[in-house]
This record gives sequence, structure tokens and C-alpha cells, in this order.
Amino acid sequence: MKRRQVLSVMFIFMVMMSAVEAKPKYIGVEKCASCHKAEHLAWKTSVHAKAFNVLKPGKRKKAKLLAELDPEKDYTADKKCVGCHVTGYREKGGFKDVASTPEFIGVSCESCHGAGSKYAVLHNDNPSGFTKQEAIELGQLYGVDDEAVCLACHAHKDSPFHEGLDDKYKFDWKAALKIHKAYHPKPKKSSFSFM
Ligand code: HEC
Ligand code: HEC
Ligand code: HEC
Ligand code: HEC
Repeated sequence: MKRRQVLSVMFIFMVMMSAVEAKPKYIGVEKCASCHKAEHLAWKTSVHAKAFNVLKPGKRKKAKLLAELDPEKDYTADKKCVGCHVTGYREKGGFKDVASTPEFIGVSCESCHGAGSKYAVLHNDNPSGFTKQEAIELGQLYGVDDEAVCLACHAHKDSPFHEGLDDKYKFDWKAALKIHKAYHPKPKKSSFSFM
């Protein structure tokens, strides 16, 4: 290779590396919880927090039978299942397996708000607030504006539990957003408990 070719290959490689670098990482519930105590407390008792448990043998037997799944089987390491029952499956920083990434078990903050390594810095630097646009540029997601955030798991063709199986699995986005006990309520005052 000529020197110029070597340089251009190196340049392309560097651009690729910075693109990889640019993608935010998953940082885990505890990091968010350090500032958002109210949401964290509420979320801990929600169905999303416990969503991994339903993959265990003996859980939700009736529902599994209806979906022609084996109620006595352990689905907690099944690649076809875990993706929607954990946070950041196979993504940078996210869930790998129970042993190495236990903090990403269940559907947590970053499943709905996006991988947080970049926007958490924005939050930290701007305790009195920031614009949505700034946050979105750093990878924050807004499930109230964008149904796709929820549809990554709900009413998805890869989920065994969809409306084709039973009407009760029909996903009505606007109605689902109102079920605050499924994630956390809107705090009365500022949720920010850092100051
Ligand atoms: C260092 C403290 C801190 C950390 C860490 C932090 N936040 Fe925030 N967050 C804030 C502050 C401050 C605000 C803006 C004031 C407010 O809304 O209470 C905010 C606002 C938000 C909002 C509302 C956004 C908007 O546009 O109004 C969401 C959602 C949020 N944070 C989620 C998270 C999640 C998820 C994590 C973890 C990945 C996280 N935050 C980490 C301090 C933090
Ligand atoms: C594409 C995302 C996705 C995949 C893949 C997925 N699930 Fe789920 N699962 C969901 C969602 C969303 C719900 C909640 C459905 C509802 O209540 O409307 C759910 C609910 C469940 C429930 C509770 C059902 C009930 O009525 O109590 C069980 C059990 C379950 N899933 C097991 C599995 C198993 C086993 C697999 C693999 C064979 C799997 N899931 C794969 C998204 C997924
Ligand atoms: C099932 C989805 C879901 C999960 C899980 C979830 N949230 Fe939220 N959260 C939302 C939605 C939807 C909103 C409304 C704003 C938006 O669309 O981002 C919201 C709003 C917020 C706000 C702004 C509250 C306000 O009105 O001032 C904060 C802060 C927040 N979430 C933090 C968290 C933290 C911390 C966790 C984890 C402990 C978490 N959320 C888990 C869906 C979720
Ligand atoms: C990473 C996957 C994932 C994402 C993203 C997600 N959910 Fe869920 N959600 C689940 C799973 C899995 C369950 C089932 C938990 C169970 O049955 O124990 C569930 C359960 C629920 C339930 C309770 C279902 C019922 O019938 O009571 C509601 C409501 C809900 N989700 C709303 C939302 C909304 C609104 C959003 C978007 C802001 C969202 N979810 C995003 C995976 C997800």
C-alpha cells in the first residue's frame, strides 16, 4: 500500500472508532437512583422492575400454557426471551447474563429513557433543567412523545404475548402511559433530590 492509502485507511478507521465511541453506554439503575430517588422507589415495586422473574420456571403457568410455552422450563438464559425482560440486552454496557450483569435484570430506567452515559452528564451539569432537544441529541428517549420506545417490546412480533394470542395483550400506548404504577408516577415537586 502507498503511504496515502495507508493514511486514508487509518482515517476511515479513526472515523469508525469515534462513531463507536459516540454511542452512549448503559450505566444502570443505581446511577439514576442517586439523583431520582422518588422514581427509583416507585419503580422498584413495578411490573417492569420484576419483569425478569416471569421467565423463571413455575411462574405465570397459565399464560405460558396459553402461548404454548413450557411452564416448567427455565427461560432466563433463552436468547429468544431475555431481550425484552432485561435492560440493554447485548448493547454497550447492558445486560449480558445474570452472573456478570445482575444490575441490568428487569426493565429499568434506561429501557424507557435510553442508554444514559451521555445524557446523565447533561443532567448532572444542569440541575435546574435542560432542553429536550439537548437530551435527545445525547440519546435520551421520550416515551410520551414516541410510541416506538414502548413498541420495542410491547406488541412486538417476537413477543409470545401479543393481541393475536388474547385481546388482553392488545397494547394501547396512550392508555398504557396512564398506568403509572407500571413504572413510576410523575412526582408532585421536582424529582430532583440532589440539592
Ligand atoms: C447527577 C444527578 C442526575 C443523574 C445521575 C441523572 N439525572 Fe436525570 N435529571 C437530573 C436533573 C437535575 C434533571 C432536571 C431537573 C428535574 O427534572 O428534576 C433531570 C431530569 C431527568 C428527566 C426529565 C427529562 C426532561 O426532559 O424533563 C428524566 C426522564 C431523567 N432525568 C432520567 C434519568 C435517568 C434515566 C438517569 C440514569 C440513566 C438519570 N436521569 C441520571 C439529575 C440527574
Ligand atoms: C419482543 C419482546 C419480548 C420477547 C422477545 C419476549 N417477551 Fe415476554 N413479554 C413481553 C411484553 C411486552 C410482555 C407484557 C405483555 C402484556 O402484559 O401486555 C411480556 C410478558 C411475558 C409474560 C407474562 C404474561 C402474563 O400474562 O402474565 C411471560 C411469562 C413472558 N413474557 C415470557 C416470555 C418468554 C418465555 C419469552 C421467550 C419465549 C418471551 N417472553 C419473549 C415482551 C417480550
Ligand atoms: C416503562 C417505562 C419507564 C421506566 C422503566 C422508567 N420510566 Fe421514567 N418515565 C417514563 C415516561 C413515559 C416518562 C414521561 C417522560 C418521558 O417520556 O420520558 C417518565 C418520566 C421520568 C422523569 C421525569 C419526571 C417528571 O415528570 O418530572 C424522571 C426523572 C424519570 N422518568 C426517571 C426514571 C428513573 C430514575 C427510572 C428508573 C428507576 C425510570 N424513570 C424508569 C417511563 C419510564
Ligand atoms: C424492554 C422492554 C419493555 C419496554 C421498553 C417497555 N415495556 Fe412495558 N412491559 C414489559 C414487560 C416484559 C412487561 C410484563 C411484566 C409482567 O407481566 O410481569 C411489561 C408490562 C407493562 C405494563 C403492565 C401490563 C398490564 O397489562 O398490566 C404496562 C402498563 C406497560 N408495560 C407499559 C409500558 C409503557 C407505557 C412503555 C413505554 C413508555 C413500556 N411499557 C416499555 C417490557 C417493556
